[in-house]
Amino acid sequence: MAAEEDRHLPRHAPRELRGMIRPASQPFRVFEALMIAAAVAIITYFHYTTLHVEFMSHTSLHIILRRLYYIPIIYAAIRFGIRGGLLTSLAVTVLFVPHAASSMGGLFESGSIDNFFDIILYNVVAVTTGLVVESRRRQAQRYEEMLALNREIEDRESDLRRIKSYIESILKSVGNAVISVDDRGQIVTANPVASQMLGRPEEELVAFPLRQVFAGQDDLLRAADLVLSGGQTRVTLETELGPPDGRPISAAVRITPHRSNSSTVGIVISMEDLTEVKELTHQLLRADKLSGLGELVTGVAHEVRNPLGVIRASVQMMRDELGDNCPEQELCQVMLQEIDRLDAFVNTLLDFGRPSQSQMGPVDAERTLDEVILLTKQFAIQQQVNIRRSGSSHEHDIWANEDRVKQVFINLISNAIQAMPDGGDLEIALAADDGYLMISFADTGCGIPERIQARVFEPFVTARPNGSGLGLSIVHRIVDAHKGYIRVDSEAGRGTSITLGLPLAKKGEPMKEGMDG
Ligand SMILES: Nc1ncnc2c1ncn2[C@@H]1O[C@H](COP(=O)(O)OP(=O)(O)OP(=O)(O)O)[C@@H](O)[C@H]1O
Ligand SMILES: [Mg+2]
Repeated sequence: MAAEEDRHLPRHAPRELRGMIRPASQPFRVFEALMIAAAVAIITYFHYTTLHVEFMSHTSLHIILRRLYYIPIIYAAIRFGIRGGLLTSLAVTVLFVPHAASSMGGLFESGSIDNFFDIILYNVVAVTTGLVVESRRRQAQRYEEMLALNREIEDRESDLRRIKSYIESILKSVGNAVISVDDRGQIVTANPVASQMLGRPEEELVAFPLRQVFAGQDDLLRAADLVLSGGQTRVTLETELGPPDGRPISAAVRITPHRSNSSTVGIVISMEDLTEVKELTHQLLRADKLSGLGELVTGVAHEVRNPLGVIRASVQMMRDELGDNCPEQELCQVMLQEIDRLDAFVNTLLDFGRPSQSQMGPVDAERTLDEVILLTKQFAIQQQVNIRRSGSSHEHDIWANEDRVKQVFINLISNAIQAMPDGGDLEIALAADDGYLMISFADTGCGIPERIQARVFEPFVTARPNGSGLGLSIVHRIVDAHKGYIRVDSEAGRGTSITLGLPLAKKGEPMKEGMDG
């Protein structure tokens, strides 16, 4: 019982209060009352029978017994309050008065005046002890109530802490960004995905105004105001978030009101990153388009190539037969040149359309790149383009088909040179990082025109008068087939930077067939 109670009492609770807080059981109270009555009866009996007994030569035992009455009176006042004390002192008075009145000639006689004072004192002691005990008891009760209240507050606090950490763990594990905003437009909470999407740590979001964090996102801010003012129950929109130091993120935003007692006390903004989904959809559409186009192109190219061969042979024969001095010789020469150009174009078309089964294996990309640079050197000199190469693959091979990789390099370098008709610089940098060899081609050319930037990897998209628009779509197919990636960053008038990432070969990987591209 005591242990049970101590469990609820705080460590600093005074020990003396513990007994007072604990009420005695009913049988024990009856037992105590009987004991008091018995004590009074025993004292009265001895008091009446020891009228003339001398004790220790000078003090009367009789007087000592009279004083003993104080013990049951005080005990009764402590255990049963004023009422218990007074009841006992009155009982003592009733028992004592006849004896005091009969002995020594009367209650108020000069020799018996101390009897009278004792009777008064029995009652005074009963009342004062009862008062003190009852006031202490009330104090203990208040203390008990305070403790109960304290316990309840502690319980509620721990419930709240539990709920808070539960909600926080849910918010941390959801894949979407979740931001809660109060009715003044200030951010209250932001989960880690929100920090990541907005490119700001949590400390730079919480307690900041929504207007500052989403500066420039007018649609989103307007929608947030609308939901906050109760004008709309829910708004969904798509927007582009531009973290200060990263690439822009396409996000689906949902704004819902946060209600309490049917009034809006804030809003909750949830955002889903759509960049990857969009990129995948785009890739799927492109792959679908390309595969159909590939078949068509291969068919057409084959049909054109055969008659082209026949025409070339015929024109050549004609030229040989016309003799050196004939003026038509020159016409034949032009025809042959144009046929060759057409043939080259048809070969490019065939390259694009034909899924090739070619050998994959470890390739020294740095060496391959140097070979291609050597090959294009003449062209670069003609155009006054200065090619610089930096970095290294640090002797890491890539897992690739060498001819295809050469094709990629040739296309990217020729595009860059073609973009600098008045000369310029082409910086090619190599670096191995995180399982990929990254090769970047940065030129100071005219930049990709904005109108075709989003479509440069689609076939037949070109801004050059003599371009076929197939180069970059072939590059993309090859890079895809190598499970690599390609990124374009271009600004019209300032230059273009194209970065390739090609997977490094794992040590001991065997040569194998099977690249489609
Ligand atoms: N480095 C670059 N600088 C500026 N514009 C570029 C660059 N690379 C590509 N482009 C633009 O992208 C377009 C598409 O390039 P792509 O290589 O696919 O085709 P193309 O060069 O026009 O023709 P081809 O099939 O002969 O390569 C180009 O016409 C050009 O406008
Ligand atoms: Mg090209």
